[in-house]
This record gives sequence, C-alpha cells and structure tokens, in this order.
Amino acid sequence: MTNNNIYFVANWKMNGHLSLIKRLKNVVILSNNKKYKKIKIIYCPPFTLISKLFDKIKKSKIIVGSQDCSYEDNYGPFTGDVNPKLIKEIGAKYVILGHSERRLKGDTNKIINRKIHAALKQKLKIILCIGESLKDRKKNKTFSVLKKQLLLCLKKINNLDNIIVAYEPIWSIGTGVIPLNNILEHDISKIIKFLKLKFKNQKPKIIYGGSVNPENIVKLKHIKNINGFLVGGASLYENKFVDIIKKTTI
Ligand code: 13P
Repeated sequence: MTNNNIYFVANWKMNGHLSLIKRLKNVVILSNNKKYKKIKIIYCPPFTLISKLFDKIKKSKIIVGSQDCSYEDNYGPFTGDVNPKLIKEIGAKYVILGHSERRLKGDTNKIINRKIHAALKQKLKIILCIGESLKDRKKNKTFSVLKKQLLLCLKKINNLDNIIVAYEPIWSIGTGVIPLNNILEHDISKIIKFLKLKFKNQKPKIIYGGSVNPENIVKLKHIKNINGFLVGGASLYENKFVDIIKKTTI
C-alpha cells in the first residue's frame, strides 16, 4: 500500500435496494473516525439510488459516484442516457468508466475516451477500469491489452489529476480467484511505469478490483504502490466492507 490516500470504492453494479442504504450506519461512523482520515470511501450505487443514498450519508465523509455516464455532454433527446451534468447536479463526484461489464455491452475504448472527456468537463473524477481476459493472459498478452486500453481511453487527456486507474483482471471479477501477489505487483508496476512515461512527473493512482473480500484483503494489502480497492460483491454487505477497510488499515 502507499502512504497516500487509500480509496475504497463500492461498486454495487445492478444491485442494491432501499433497505441496503438504511444499513450503512457503521460505514458512516467509520468515515467520520479521525483514525481513518486518509481513507476515501466512495459508494457507486445504481443511478436510481443515488439521491436516497445522499439522504443517508449526509453527516459523513462518504463520497458518491455513478457507475457510468453518457458521452453526450449536454442535455438532449437521448432516451435512457444520463449525462455527466445530471450526475454532477445530483452531487456525485466520481464516475466509474470502462468497467468490463460495460465493455461487454458495447463500450469501446473510443467510447470510453469520449465519456472521460465529457465527465472531466463537468469536473467529475474518473475511476477508469482496465483489465485483461483469461485468454489474453494465457497468450501472454496482458500488458499489450492494458497498454492499448490506457492509450486509447486516455487519448488527448493531459494529466491524471482527476483520474484513478482501476486494474481489474476480468477473470478475477466475481470468481473468487485473485492474482498472486507477485504477479499483481508486477502488472501494477508496469501500469505505473507506462503512465509515468506518458504523463511526465505525475504520480498515478492505481486501485485493484476483482473478488476483494475480508479474507483475501490481508494478502492484497501488501501489494506495493497500490492506492486502494474497487469492491463489487462484498461491498453489498456493510460488515464485509467495513472489515475490508479496517483490515487494510491496521
Ligand atoms: P467483485 O468484487 O464482485 O469480484 O467485483 C469486482 C468489480 O467488478 C468491481 O468493479
């Protein structure tokens, strides 16, 4: 782990309901505890739950994000789309882009790049997901895939000030399988090296996602140069999410 801010991002995906929001008492308490002042907790529920979530976390340091946005940066006749302006307006600060589950639904690197530009224009912060498939990994193509995603998604982006890169190997998402520490450390160091070269003198922020849970976090927290975690399934259970945060920081 780094000594800088540590990010814990809860990606609820297409899950969650009102009763789940009512059960965030312990995360709220933890977020206000001075002992955890270096921690940034970001909840990304489905769009429909964002305003209800705000009601519940008003008195906390929890930050809210969305799981996607449109690349249209203005209002208009785009049925079903939610643009960054609308996301900003509701008070969200972050947006997850490029998640492999959105890529499966048709988001290309080019589309993701357009979304990043639109979101940055509204001063939203980006959590850009990249990751290789098992097939890519078996063919030793991991880094060439990641590099291509970074190059195309970050086209015409000048700095990383408002961008966190989330490395999520697709084969690790929802499977319970995580990369070995030395492999993960190796891949993350390559991502950092590449970003440092592209964005001179910038310090990239990298978080890891894929089957993070209260058991494997004790191993994952030893990964060098990591700035936090993007948590799917386990973030739906308040006790597990709190456990992950506490175990990372002791
Ligand atoms: P899981 O933690 O459920 O594997 O999901 C990871 C993920 O996709 C977070 O964005």
